[in-house]
Amino acid sequence: MTDFETRLSATADDIADTLSSLLPRIETDGVRCAEARLLEAMRYGAEGGKRLRAFMAVETARMFGIERYNALRVGAAIECIHAYSLVHDDLPCMDDDDLRRGRPTTHRKFDEATAVLAGDALQTMAFTILADPATHENPFIRCELVAALARASGPRGMVGGQMIDIEAEKTSEPLSLAETSRLQRMKTGALIEVSCTMGAILGHASSTNRRALEYYARDFGLCFQICDDLLDATGTEEMVGKAVAKDADAGKATFVDLLGLDGAKERAAMLTEQAKAHLSPLGERADTLRALADHALYRQK
Ligand code: IPE
Ligand code: IPE
Ligand code: MG
Ligand code: MG
Ligand code: MG
Repeated sequence: MTDFETRLSATADDIADTLSSLLPRIETDGVRCAEARLLEAMRYGAEGGKRLRAFMAVETARMFGIERYNALRVGAAIECIHAYSLVHDDLPCMDDDDLRRGRPTTHRKFDEATAVLAGDALQTMAFTILADPATHENPFIRCELVAALARASGPRGMVGGQMIDIEAEKTSEPLSLAETSRLQRMKTGALIEVSCTMGAILGHASSTNRRALEYYARDFGLCFQICDDLLDATGTEEMVGKAVAKDADAGKATFVDLLGLDGAKERAAMLTEQAKAHLSPLGERADTLRALADHALYRQK
């Protein structure tokens, strides 16, 4: 394994442990609580995944010498929001998917009402984690983290993007390139961008460094969704752990639809180079983030 791969896998393991310790316990002294079904669904929805958003926060914080413990809590909060977004994204009223991370989606494993509630609870868990003094001793920093994650997840970020995504399925006129970029920057890019922002907030980064990281994550985020759309068009279910070849039939607004496979691949490669170029003010310290951009471009899942 390369140094980058070792780091990525160690962080994924540490995030799993952190989430496991932070999510509410199902049993106390061998007795299951009455809401156990909800807690089981929360844990189920939060398990697995590549943990790339958490990795971005942890690696950004590491550049500024932040304790790993604090960075992992921030990464875990971001992964709670991401997991909630996927649990809801898979519901029959959204993308209607049966497979996620190589196993049944949360509403298939449990039921729709439980999946809605587990998503809701994962969302609020994220802010419970950030508001806890264990995340950072300074309440102003905690407030900044909460506000940044709320903005990125809300109507001008992920949720707003999901609305445009769903509405675009129903319109006869396809979205333009500019409209599709905005949709994807919102539904996927916002949470990816804020992962670097939150690492920078923890690390008291200078405004130059913070801007560099955010520009990097902005291009990376759009590239990430283009690659996800490419995997839908060219990957297999076994490879990606979720259903494929669905976006075109569903009428999703994607770069693959607008630019074709080669055009979308070219755009993703261009965004990767652009993302890495933004990191120049950070020098060698940002090498792991550069490696992450390359890794995401060539990912198979
Ligand atoms: C999938 O995200 C949904 C998108 C926003 C493209 P990931 O590909 O990061 O999913 P996991 O967390 O690894 O399962
Ligand atoms: C999901 O985009 C973006 C979210 C905010 C959850 P997709 O609908 O393309 O993600 P997958 O392909 O189901 O993982
Ligand atoms: Mg979707
Ligand atoms: Mg989906
Ligand atoms: Mg997709």
